[in-house]
Amino acid sequence: MIPSIDDMQATADFLKKRTGFSPEVGIILGSGLGGLVKEIAIEHQIPYEEIPNFPVSTVEGHSGKLIFGKLGGKSVVAMQGRFHYYEGYSMQQCTFPVRVMKFLGIKNLLVSNASGGVNLSFKVGDLMILTDHINLFPTNPLMGRNNSDLGPRFPDMSEAYSKELVKKAEAIAARNGIKIQKGVYAGLSGPCFETPAEYRYIRAIGGDAVGMSTVPEVIVARHGGIPCFAISIITDMGVGDEAGDVSHEDVIHVANNAEPKMTLIMKELIAAL
Ligand code: HPA
Repeated sequence: MIPSIDDMQATADFLKKRTGFSPEVGIILGSGLGGLVKEIAIEHQIPYEEIPNFPVSTVEGHSGKLIFGKLGGKSVVAMQGRFHYYEGYSMQQCTFPVRVMKFLGIKNLLVSNASGGVNLSFKVGDLMILTDHINLFPTNPLMGRNNSDLGPRFPDMSEAYSKELVKKAEAIAARNGIKIQKGVYAGLSGPCFETPAEYRYIRAIGGDAVGMSTVPEVIVARHGGIPCFAISIITDMGVGDEAGDVSHEDVIHVANNAEPKMTLIMKELIAAL
């Protein structure tokens, strides 16, 4: 079922009533990347099950709650656990929380994820700031009748990731001696990891990393005019036939280890907004 604008408004009203909060910044935390939450001065946390119209997250490593608090001097709302297309939700369900965050008044969206490196110069554990994406999902969250109260029929995607936020994050990384990669994220449905041929294909079309999230949320945020910033932790390398096995456990393990660097960048970026 496609959530309606009334559902979005009702959910935002519920959250406003329950928390009294008007967040300026929305955050979506990826697999094994919930640690940024420890930096938030939490005022409210609401499990997804308690939020009207929210889908319920199922995948391991995603605990599924909405957190309201202060970070870097700003009011933030953070999703600990996101909804993936491969879990069986529609694109509209996956991105429903982004619509709700827009109704709550966020001015920027910050996203993290774990991804596979396809750029051969990347190393496991690297951080990659997204400069662009390629939508390889079989569909798009904006399919169907457009509601012009949410955004235009044909939204511009020439700056899916805010150049200004990328510049700020690069400066923060440099100041803190954190090595950073920049590149294009290819988003696809999963849940299979890629075959060696698929990794080669993604490399050939200009992808630097590949993952199963972020693209739907960023499309919806841009539809709503929200500037986006996203950062990937490269948890494994798709280097061809010698790629070896990738497991969800490896992904979580590498993500946990690289997380402090990502947390620092996110926190300082929020402070600098
Ligand atoms: N492919 C797709 N998604 C991923 C990967 C990968 O190699 N690593 C982490 N998420």
